[in-house]
Amino acid sequence: MLLRRVVTRTASHRSLATLDAVHNVDDFQRLAKDVLERPLYEYLASGSGDEVTLRENRAAFGRYALRPRALRPVDALSTTCELFGNELALPVFASPAGVHSLVDDEGECATARACGRAGVLFGLSQHATVCIEDVAAAAPGAHRWFQSYLLKDRAATLDLVRRAVAAGYRGVFLTVDSVRFGFREVDARNNFCALPPPLTLANYVATPPGIGAAAWEAREHRAWDQNSEALFDTAASWDAVSWLREELDPSIPLVVKGVMTGEDAALAVAHGADGVYVSTHGGRQLDETLGALDALPEVAAAVPPGTPVLLDSGVRRGTDVVKALALGATAVGVGKPLFFSLAVGGERGVDKLFEILAEETRVAMALTGCASLADISADVVCAR
Ligand SMILES: Cc1cc2nc3c(=O)[nH]c(=O)nc-3n(C[C@H](O)[C@H](O)[C@H](O)COP(=O)(O)O)c2cc1C
Repeated sequence: MLLRRVVTRTASHRSLATLDAVHNVDDFQRLAKDVLERPLYEYLASGSGDEVTLRENRAAFGRYALRPRALRPVDALSTTCELFGNELALPVFASPAGVHSLVDDEGECATARACGRAGVLFGLSQHATVCIEDVAAAAPGAHRWFQSYLLKDRAATLDLVRRAVAAGYRGVFLTVDSVRFGFREVDARNNFCALPPPLTLANYVATPPGIGAAAWEAREHRAWDQNSEALFDTAASWDAVSWLREELDPSIPLVVKGVMTGEDAALAVAHGADGVYVSTHGGRQLDETLGALDALPEVAAAVPPGTPVLLDSGVRRGTDVVKALALGATAVGVGKPLFFSLAVGGERGVDKLFEILAEETRVAMALTGCASLADISADVVCAR
């Protein structure tokens, strides 16, 4: 099924009054469900298999409680986050997620501009609907990172990463959890099997490398993400991390995304990764895993002290941010909320998303007696 494009998808067409109805991150999802066609909403919101991991991502946050601390000065509270020598306004970032133009005509440009205004890191997916260079031109001041998959064609992989570095992206996420794509049954039921024209995976100049045009166009799979599987290197091993690290300029940090065990975290660092990124891909890849937050302590313990540990999957509240940082994260990402806020309010929706997360984080920090991120130590949380 080719979806009709959503009727009014630009910020100028949306009523800003809608944003007045948004008071927390989940409000965006509730409102997005009303404005998006059902198959598109379900493509964005669903998880793989029985959606156990999707649910666990949220449930994991509920298994920890915060420990309030009183009468600690928080008048000069700061959420400033240092990451690889760069200062960010907030320890929250935009996870790299493809296809933003499904919900807004400005696509990744809108999200990147909003991230620039918020002073947060923007991750651009290799499978974006606006290309590397156009997003850079739209948001030159934003702190942009590029997310790469390992293509069968290593030269093409490197070409994409080099384009990103040339366009001013300041770091690379290498996603390693997608050697196959998790199967979202809802897309099969909805027959959501192709990107609606005229959208394309814009970073591939023509036909994606390593796959014939006929195979790419055949779209023989039951969910369109699965069409991408033919591109990916299923024979890759950890040597691929060493390879990419050696090809990259030392000034560009390389963070391995999709690490869920201490073993893989140690391997990532041993093969040259500058940081690790705990993620279940938002519950869209392997089902029946731990929620990402439950895997965080094991991962944080497995890497040398000082190694940045990022996390996403299920982050929706400022209290989630504080819990993750207390358990060892340096910063946390949001994925689905980007789509839902874009769908509801366009670029202004994404502004509001980060405003909400910033304010909630400040309140949670103040009430746990933390004036800076460095104050968010392990004793801020306990098992519930
Ligand atoms: C529609 C969609 C597309 C995504 N595309 C990518 C992608 O291209 N590359 C990637 O590494 N992760 C991708 N992700 C996963 C996100 O980077 C992130 O790990 C996940 O959304 C975080 O969980 P959350 O949605 O619960 O916040 C995608 C997620 C969604 C919802």
